[in-house]
Amino acid sequence: MPAIVDMDGELVPAAEARVSIFDRGFLAGDQVYEVLRTYGLAPFRLPEHLARLARSADRIGLDLPWGPERLAAEIARTIAASRGGDAEDPEAAPWNRGQRSVRVVVTRGAAAEARDLGVPPGPHVIVAAVPLRGPPAAAYRQGVACVTVPARVPRADPLAKTGGHLAEALAAREAEAAGAHEALFQDAAGRITEGSSSNVFRVKGGRVETPPVSAGILPGVTRALVLSLAREAGLPTSERELTRGDLEEADEIFLTSTTREVLPVTALGDRRVGRGVPGPVAARLHALFRAAASPRAGPG
Ligand code: PDD
Repeated sequence: MPAIVDMDGELVPAAEARVSIFDRGFLAGDQVYEVLRTYGLAPFRLPEHLARLARSADRIGLDLPWGPERLAAEIARTIAASRGGDAEDPEAAPWNRGQRSVRVVVTRGAAAEARDLGVPPGPHVIVAAVPLRGPPAAAYRQGVACVTVPARVPRADPLAKTGGHLAEALAAREAEAAGAHEALFQDAAGRITEGSSSNVFRVKGGRVETPPVSAGILPGVTRALVLSLAREAGLPTSERELTRGDLEEADEIFLTSTTREVLPVTALGDRRVGRGVPGPVAARLHALFRAAASPRAGPG
């Protein structure tokens, strides 16, 4: 638990931060959120994350109490208050050491009772900055395993990052139970859409492919950056629907997300991906990503 969080613009000890048990965020997942991260303790791709937060809020008709400048200021204050006290982790990837994962949550607020769908008196904004725990360095060298899970539980709104993410939470549990790093959703039409908290790419014959936003995926900030880095590097890219078969015959598969950057996938269920080792295209894109994220290159 972080020592200090920002609750409606006040820095308070985390143990003292409270929302009502009648808060619609708690009762109904009626909240939007973002997870961003720091490099050199500066938020990365902050405008993109704040724009997505605003879009998510708009999609569920939630008025954000603060604009992007105020949100950015509160995020900076919270990161500053979270400095120090990091435990040493020899397994950590070097770019994650001492960094923060920052969660911004805007909940609808407390209703008079659970099924009261009227507009409650006011939303709460919570900002928490915690030591970033990304995949260990070994995961990038060896690759990780994924399982595919049927999208059984309906997803609230895949394009919005809302608290209604039971489907994602159950999928992540399934992956963990199977000893895999991530679960990839397979929809009723057999298409693979995205991971429980990541976007998925495949490489085939040198082409970098990922499902389009119209497939019902979260438009990942990392996904967009990786697509543009691939295009700048002259790699052919396409946003197209991918089936499980497309993934099985891929030369490479990799995941993207804020905390994973570009993470190679070397097993899908009990099948090897390609030769079963991280591939050169994922490695190249990760190197380009690392250069783009380097604090020397300036904040995102
Ligand atoms: N999740 N798809 C889903 C369903 C996600 O929840 C996420 C991110 C992504 C990747 O998006 P981005 O590149 O903007 O992080 C894709 C965050 C990290 C989370 O919930 O922890």
